[in-house]
Amino acid sequence: MAVPLPPWRPLIRAAQQREGRSPAARWLQLATVALDGTPRVRTLVFRGWGGPDQLDLLTDARSAKAPELEQQPAMEICWLMPKAKQQFRLRGCWQPAATQAEAERQRHWQQLSPAGRALWAWPAPGRPQQPSDQFVEELSAETEIPEHFQLLRLQIERVEQLDLGQHPHLRRSWQRQEQWRALHLRP
Ligand SMILES: Cc1cc2nc3c(=O)[nH]c(=O)nc-3n(C[C@H](O)[C@H](O)[C@H](O)COP(=O)(O)O)c2cc1C
Repeated sequence: MAVPLPPWRPLIRAAQQREGRSPAARWLQLATVALDGTPRVRTLVFRGWGGPDQLDLLTDARSAKAPELEQQPAMEICWLMPKAKQQFRLRGCWQPAATQAEAERQRHWQQLSPAGRALWAWPAPGRPQQPSDQFVEELSAETEIPEHFQLLRLQIERVEQLDLGQHPHLRRSWQRQEQWRALHLRP
């Protein structure tokens, strides 16, 4: 029997639809804790749902966020949908690769555009640029998947919605350990 979707999933979907073709429908911010305990935040592309309450992102395992999540798997996503006037904050935990199916990683690799795939053929990110660096523009789906092509599957534990489109503003949260029961909060 199919697992029912958490109640916040249709809300995110409706907000994404309001964004139409705007990048906001797919761009979100991922916050992690750096190795020195200070916060880090950056933009990533939403790559779909890996399960009813699992969100997929793709990254380069050579980037800073990878060891950050290894050391501290707790993370938070902030997703602003400006046309819908809504913010979703998703809190949860990175699921280490061992528990993920390799087939899922391969599926994501196949789904990328040639230009999107090329980024994983670029030199290791975040290091000083070198004159010898080469940045290919496209990579075909037949190319062997680079080891550092990383699927970040995030297990969502808590979701908070803030909707500025009504008076008073609507603020509510859901927690996985409370079977996603909605809790209305003062805005
Ligand atoms: C619009 C936009 C989309 C991005 N999408 C991704 C992405 O899907 N995956 C990713 O790893 N980095 C993405 N980046 C780059 C990250 O914001 C960040 O610069 C990079 O991942 C390095 O972060 P880190 O050093 O904190 O690991 C994107 C940046 C922008 C501006």
